Amino acid sequence: MTTALLISLVSCLLAINQAIIMHRCDVAKLLYKEDLHGFEGYPLSAWLCLAFVESKFNTSKIKENADGSFDYGIFQINSHYWCNDYLSHSENLCHTDCIELLNPDLLSTVNCVKKIMSGGGGLNNWIEWKLHCSGRPLSYWMTGCRLA
Ligand SMILES: *[C@@H]1O[C@H](CO)[C@@H](O)[C@H](O)[C@H]1NC(C)=O
Repeated sequence: MTTALLISLVSCLLAINQAIIMHRCDVAKLLYKEDLHGFEGYPLSAWLCLAFVESKFNTSKIKENADGSFDYGIFQINSHYWCNDYLSHSENLCHTDCIELLNPDLLSTVNCVKKIMSGGGGLNNWIEWKLHCSGRPLSYWMTGCRLA
């Protein structure tokens, strides 16, 4: 009993620690399920481009910024405004712990993205979008992906 508990605890911790690089089409499927296709006028291919330039589809990605805040997950959502990591002041506008934004189910991430988009500005909220995706051909990001 105790051993079983210990083993499941350890494997759980290992799973959390593991950097999960998602496959492009799996990201597409999850984002489609969460209704991001066409959200605010952006097709799935746009979201894939954003996720790739922000994180290379690494759902575990955490990056420190010059101001001491951190960016979390596949869309590199910032802790100063959007989520709480208990490391520095946060507005926590998405009402979520930043660690939730590392979950490969992408549920909290998509909820937070919708909140970010509700402030206007579209994907221009992400600098990497402007630099690497905006105004470029994007449809190839969906090449070979089936959504159902
Ligand atoms: C994914 O992100 C984590 C956390 O930032 C990092 O430690 C890991 O090296 C990344 N994995 C890859 C393959 O880039």
